[in-house]
Amino acid sequence: MALERLRLGVNIDHVATIRNARGGEHPDPLDAARIAIRAGADGITMHLREDRRHIRDDDVRRVRAAIAAPLNLEMAATDEMIAFAKDIQPHAACLVPERREEVTTEGGLDVAGHAQALRPVVEALAAAGCRVSLFIDPDLEQVRAAAAIGAPVVELHTGAYAHGKPGELARLRAAAALTGELGLECHAGHGLTYANTPPIATLPGVKELNIGHFLIGQAIFDGLAVVVSRMRSVMNVARTELPAGPSAVVPGR
Ligand code: PXP
Repeated sequence: MALERLRLGVNIDHVATIRNARGGEHPDPLDAARIAIRAGADGITMHLREDRRHIRDDDVRRVRAAIAAPLNLEMAATDEMIAFAKDIQPHAACLVPERREEVTTEGGLDVAGHAQALRPVVEALAAAGCRVSLFIDPDLEQVRAAAAIGAPVVELHTGAYAHGKPGELARLRAAAALTGELGLECHAGHGLTYANTPPIATLPGVKELNIGHFLIGQAIFDGLAVVVSRMRSVMNVARTELPAGPSAVVPGR
C-alpha cells in the first residue's frame, strides 16, 4: 500500500556557509533554492540564526520574493526573530532552540518547560499567517506540551537517531503516533541521509522532512539537482514499499 507523497523541504543554510567562508556573493542560496525546487523539493527551509553565521536577512527576503514554493523559516523564539517573521511572512515558522555556541541545533525545544513563554510566540506567529511548528525531541511529554500550547505542527528531531542512538527509532515512532492522536501535523528532520531516511519517511502520519547538511555536502560531488532528485526518490520508494528498510533503497550513504 502506497502512502501519500511526503513533502521534502530543502534546507539551504550551508550554501551560505560556503559563500561566507570567502565573503562575496557566491554561491548564492537563492540559486540553490531555484535548483532544489526544479529538482523536486516541495519547499525551502532557511535558519536565520541570531549570529547570522550562514543565512542573512537579505537571503531570506530574496528567497521569499523570488520563490513561489513554501518558505519554512527556522528561528529562535526571540523578539527580533518574531518581528522579522511578521515582516516577511513565511509560509511556515519552525521554532528551534538556539545558543550561539552550538554548531547546529543540538536538541529540541523544551516546550514542556517553557510553555508559558512559548504560547504567545506561537499565537503571534499564527496571527501573522505562519504555520507554526515546534522542533522537539521525540518525547511524549514534549508532544503533549506542543499540542497544549496550540501549535499545529511539530518537527521531530532525528539527530540522535541519525547518530545511531539505540531505541531512537522506536521513540520517533511513538512520538509520531501521538502527534496523530492529538491532531498535530508531524514533520521530522536533522542528520538525514539517503541511507537513514527510509524509516523516517514511513513514521506514522509524517508529512514533511527537512533536510540540509547532507544534501548540500553531497551536492559538492553530484550536483544539487541530482542529489535533491535522488532524495526525492528515496522518500517516494520508501513510501511505496512498506515496510521500508534503511539500506533497501540506496547503497552507500
Ligand atoms: N530541521 C531543523 C529544525 C533544523 O534546525 C535543521 C538544521 O538546521 C534541520 C531540520 C536540517 O538538519 P540537517 O542540516 O542535519 O539535515
